[in-house]
Amino acid sequence: MDIAGTLGPAGIIPVIVIEDAAQAVPLARALVAGGLPVLEVTFRTRAAAAAISAIRHEVPEATVGAGTVLTVDQLYSAKKAGAAFCVAPGFDPAIMEEASSALMPFCPGVATASELSQALSAGAKTVKFFPAEAAGGVKMIKNLLGAFRFTGVRFMPTGGVNLANVEQYLAVPEVVACGGTWIVPKDALAAGDFAAIEKLAADAAALVRRIRS
Ligand code: 3PG
Repeated sequence: MDIAGTLGPAGIIPVIVIEDAAQAVPLARALVAGGLPVLEVTFRTRAAAAAISAIRHEVPEATVGAGTVLTVDQLYSAKKAGAAFCVAPGFDPAIMEEASSALMPFCPGVATASELSQALSAGAKTVKFFPAEAAGGVKMIKNLLGAFRFTGVRFMPTGGVNLANVEQYLAVPEVVACGGTWIVPKDALAAGDFAAIEKLAADAAALVRRIRS
């Protein structure tokens, strides 16, 4: 199942690293209020599944997915928590196959032509390009498209993307959305500064509207 239809309208997907699940609901409300309703909660902390579940149940305006899904166990934990989609930093055919059996929309990560080729063969249509800046940025995406455009592949660049460089990525028609942690800075979340996070989301959402109008 492809996730372009879920990610595309938002344009920018906050990548969330959350330590305390009790912050999930106010955080999601701040991001939705700022104009970014599609969220990726990464399985990099123990709080991830509880955070996804809380957002799913208490913030219906948000569409919450799971990120950094590295194992089949995490895939099922994300599904049980109510994740609407899963994202991985790399391509693992076993996880993709399991996601397909579980009817979980899944976005594998790629950084090279070989990985992209394998992900497409496994049925992916939208891939995370990770780590975007370190792996060659917009130039690399354009080079990959030179060879793979006919496949219809779409990209979600993530990793080193921020407000200063996101515009160049979103200008590429095959870039469906960009992900990034800059909208939810560690310090702001630790301090419970949801107003600051809402402002960062609003700035990002305004940029998407300007580029797409
Ligand atoms: C991810 O896993 O999506 C990235 O680590 C996010 O990268 P960033 O922190 O550079 O936005």
